[in-house]
Amino acid sequence: MSWIRESTLNFFQMLVVKILKSGHVPNHVAFIMDGNRRYANKCNVNSLDGHTKGFDKLAETLQWCLDFGIKEVTVYAFSIENFRRSKEEVDGLIKLAEEKFQRLLDERDKLMEHGVKVCIIGNISMIPANVRKLMAEAMRITKNNNKALLNVAFAYTSRDEITQTVKTIVQGVNDNNIQPEDVDNELFSKCLYTSESSNPDLIIRTSGEVRFSDFLLWQISHACVYFTNTLWPEFNIWDLIAAVFHYQRSYTDLQVAQLYEHPQSLSCHSRAIAYINMLDCERQRMLELAEKSC
Ligand code: FPP
Ligand code: MG
Repeated sequence: MSWIRESTLNFFQMLVVKILKSGHVPNHVAFIMDGNRRYANKCNVNSLDGHTKGFDKLAETLQWCLDFGIKEVTVYAFSIENFRRSKEEVDGLIKLAEEKFQRLLDERDKLMEHGVKVCIIGNISMIPANVRKLMAEAMRITKNNNKALLNVAFAYTSRDEITQTVKTIVQGVNDNNIQPEDVDNELFSKCLYTSESSNPDLIIRTSGEVRFSDFLLWQISHACVYFTNTLWPEFNIWDLIAAVFHYQRSYTDLQVAQLYEHPQSLSCHSRAIAYINMLDCERQRMLELAEKSC
């Protein structure tokens, strides 16, 4: 199954989406795609078939997000904790990622046509070199696209992201590139894996689990949260419609909370801006190395 597909909505579903689009639509939606193995169990197939169905559902959901006009999507595809699963399942998930990123590169024209920028967020040093290379290429070829942003969290946990960020900042201070007084909310955000993203407005978790599982903990302080019992491979347009509707009903409260907690807009010191630019160049260099490494 391809990453970008034709819209699957019927006339009635399109109409409902159109009505909701006349209200506030979240700019950025994050998904914790949970329940693939329970779905596999239910259908008497193996876990990997469950994950493959999970990928198909991801592709379908991305199209629904485009239908809704949602500009940014972040998906939790593989957590650092997932490395602890059986070797068979980890190998299977890595192979699936290899296949799907190869497919994404083969279909680059579609991606460019839709103007989708792809970002991998996570500790890429933990990803096998062959998959890292494909991911780096996908990021390079789409880096100037600006109609939509797809963040794929792979080898990701929030605590790892925050730990790496603290290390980056300490290094910056030790090397005299920044001073301790430059460290603030904004600099910290710009040193995270998600530096190129806005914070999610809405986070959706499937499968009935009511927790965040170390996903985007820094970024979701003001996000609207929507939990559904639906297993990820069974997620459907009505689940997404219900989540967007929930967001619209919470919209005013969310705006007020954001206003109280961030009363003034923060602006980085020029030294901090120079450091952020330096980190950006460093990231580009690491991606180039990843692409050449095998
Ligand atoms: C959680 O369900 C899902 C995952 C750990 C993997 C999610 C991956 C995909 C949907 C495929 C995406 C692939 C790419 C290349 C982006 P679970 O295994 O925890 O299921 P359970 O909660 O029922 O045990
Ligand atoms: Mg799970």
